[in-house]
Amino acid sequence: MAQSKFVGKVKWPVDVKLDKGLEGAITNATEIGYVDGQKGKLFYRGYDIFDLADKSTFEETAFLLLFGKLPSKEELETFNKKLVSYREIPEEVINVLKSLPKDTHPMAALRTGISILGCLDNKADQVTVANDTEIAIKLISRMASLAGAIARIREGKAIIAPNPNLPHAANLYYMMTGKKPDSFTAKTMEVSLILHADHGMNASTFTCMIIASSLSDLYSAIVGGIGSLKGPLHGGANERALSELLKLRDENDAVRYVKDCIVNKKKIMGFGHRVYKTYDPRAKILDKYVKEACEKKGLDHLYKIAKKIEEEVITVYGKKGIFPNVDFYSGILHYCLGIDPKMFTPIFAVTRVVGWCARVLEYLPENRIFRPRAVYIGPLKKKYIPIEKRK
Ligand code: CMC
Repeated sequence: MAQSKFVGKVKWPVDVKLDKGLEGAITNATEIGYVDGQKGKLFYRGYDIFDLADKSTFEETAFLLLFGKLPSKEELETFNKKLVSYREIPEEVINVLKSLPKDTHPMAALRTGISILGCLDNKADQVTVANDTEIAIKLISRMASLAGAIARIREGKAIIAPNPNLPHAANLYYMMTGKKPDSFTAKTMEVSLILHADHGMNASTFTCMIIASSLSDLYSAIVGGIGSLKGPLHGGANERALSELLKLRDENDAVRYVKDCIVNKKKIMGFGHRVYKTYDPRAKILDKYVKEACEKKGLDHLYKIAKKIEEEVITVYGKKGIFPNVDFYSGILHYCLGIDPKMFTPIFAVTRVVGWCARVLEYLPENRIFRPRAVYIGPLKKKYIPIEKRK
């Protein structure tokens, strides 16, 4: 990492070591999820992500993350019914979404939509585990309907009412595109949502936890999480990674692109991770779906270009621990499913809301407000000069 006056050992007022971006800092103890960055493993509540992606559903995974165990048949049925019952979004929210400027980024629209939902909930400020659990289920359900409505408004099309007979992931796809997914599309949407549901103490999760730690309402916390996820270094990378990929015609272009990034010290979108220093397991899982989706859509060249970029980056940066992350492949996958690239990060938010809520709820019973400190490195004891005497 480049030298900076903002990192290293500082005497203030005791000796401290400053690592940028809170690297290595521990926020709390958790039983929700574990990212093993050295081995490239991810666990939700002790279950390997490979097993969950293969065998579970979004609803079951959401229940697991929120409540700490796989549900019984009855528990899952009750949870599903609740999710479905909350899918409709109030007219007031739709009206505001329709009034936003046409070029509003869907993440900004989503952030706004959640904020209005909070204004409309007269129990929003009753911060208890029971009340926030109910709000969490509402948010998980409605975030998908909001994304669906936003996708349609963006395209100037009529909003599609939720279909109570479709599972969460399939309904999200249906509400965004107007098409009922075939079995391959339904499975890939399901897997994509499962893979993105939680991921350790990332920037957006930490943002939610910081906001909730002041005992502010859960809606405010989720609004903050969406704002954080939107950035290109975090959830916004999927949209950027695809946009770079679509500029390339073949594998030679891929080689040139990577070279150009290296020479000009540009970050390659969809690569690198603070925790993974090896292959991101989520990218590994998505790989086979991306390959199949590209084949089905006659976009094999995209897959080949992506694999070439991956090969080139790993050859140069692999020893530095830079490998593809989930955003590199999720963008291509959603593109193959015919989803507008501007909706990629909202899809991420639609499922990450589970992790955000689960972690806020876990912390609440033992809440202590987050309050780190910054090392002040500026001058002290400056003499105040009245404005008339300033140069
Ligand atoms: N391309 C080229 N070099 C990179 C990349 C990349 N994608 N990522 C990290 N590096 C280099 C970086 O230049 C630095 O090199 P040096 O030590 O020579 O200065 C070193 O690796 C450490 O990078 P960093 O930016 O200090 O690492 P970080 O832990 O602060 O950042 C990251 C992690 C994900 C923000 C970063 O890898 C990145 O910007 N990647 C591109 C954006 C991206 O794909 N984000 C999605 C992350 S996964 C999904 C999610 O969590 O949202």
